[in-house]
Amino acid sequence: METDYRQVAQLIKEQGNVVAFTGAGISVESGIPAFRGGQGLWEKYDPMEYADIRAFLRSPEKVWTMLREMGDVILRAEPSPAHKALGVLEKAGLLNAVITQNVDGLHQMAGNTNVIEYHGNHRRLVCPGCSYTGPFTEESMQVLPYPVCARCQRALKPDVVFFGEQIPVSASARAGIEAAACKVMIIVGTSGAVYPAADIPFTASEKGATIVEINVSPTPFTSSITNYFVEGSASTILPRILNELGLDLA
Ligand code: OAD
Repeated sequence: METDYRQVAQLIKEQGNVVAFTGAGISVESGIPAFRGGQGLWEKYDPMEYADIRAFLRSPEKVWTMLREMGDVILRAEPSPAHKALGVLEKAGLLNAVITQNVDGLHQMAGNTNVIEYHGNHRRLVCPGCSYTGPFTEESMQVLPYPVCARCQRALKPDVVFFGEQIPVSASARAGIEAAACKVMIIVGTSGAVYPAADIPFTASEKGATIVEINVSPTPFTSSITNYFVEGSASTILPRILNELGLDLA
């Protein structure tokens, strides 16, 4: 284990063009539960009933019970040591981009400036009818049964990608470019279960990038494309890699 994170630090130093690809596991220590596994959101809520755009359009009041709960957790969350470590890496010129499946905005709060939000951002509201956008706030969560668009009176939704919706065009294009160009891709805290997001590390690998994976348990990437698997919590491992590079969180 010790050797692994030291090797990762060495790769970051030597290879240049490092990109991180992150998932819900990086935000677990910020108090946001992941989607799959014991404490996962999808254990409590069936994604077909709560995260599918058709279900939202059919029954926004039902889906808003979950969106309110998620929004409440997200608005209170602070970046974890893992988010902060990626922020420091970018400032030090050692990280080019973060491609994230997360919708919590914590990478930006931790100082990353080149963040590609593949599944959108829960801190924004959007109208599926007229494309109005506005902030998701404590006040919007208080509106029952759900907040509506001031322009067309339809139910607003957080600006996140629901099942049955397209990935935002610019996020998809930017992610493809970064994946194809990077020399090292660090996959952090994602199960790799959801496509097309899970294609991103495969693209990087096919184009010759070294794949590093940090997770508490193996994933489908581990046995297929991962070159260096570092087992452990992102908030323990990433700060160790920083220290190895002579950097720290403060
Ligand atoms: P998942 O919940 O599927 O997976 C979380 C991953 O994080 C798992 O592989 C865990 O082992 C790992 N993990 C948990 N705690 C960790 C920690 N402290 N440090 C490191 N790893 C940890 O979440 P995602 O892969 O992000 O999409 O899910 C992908 C997509 O599925 C989400 O973006 C969302 C969901 O449906 C949409 O809503 C469209």
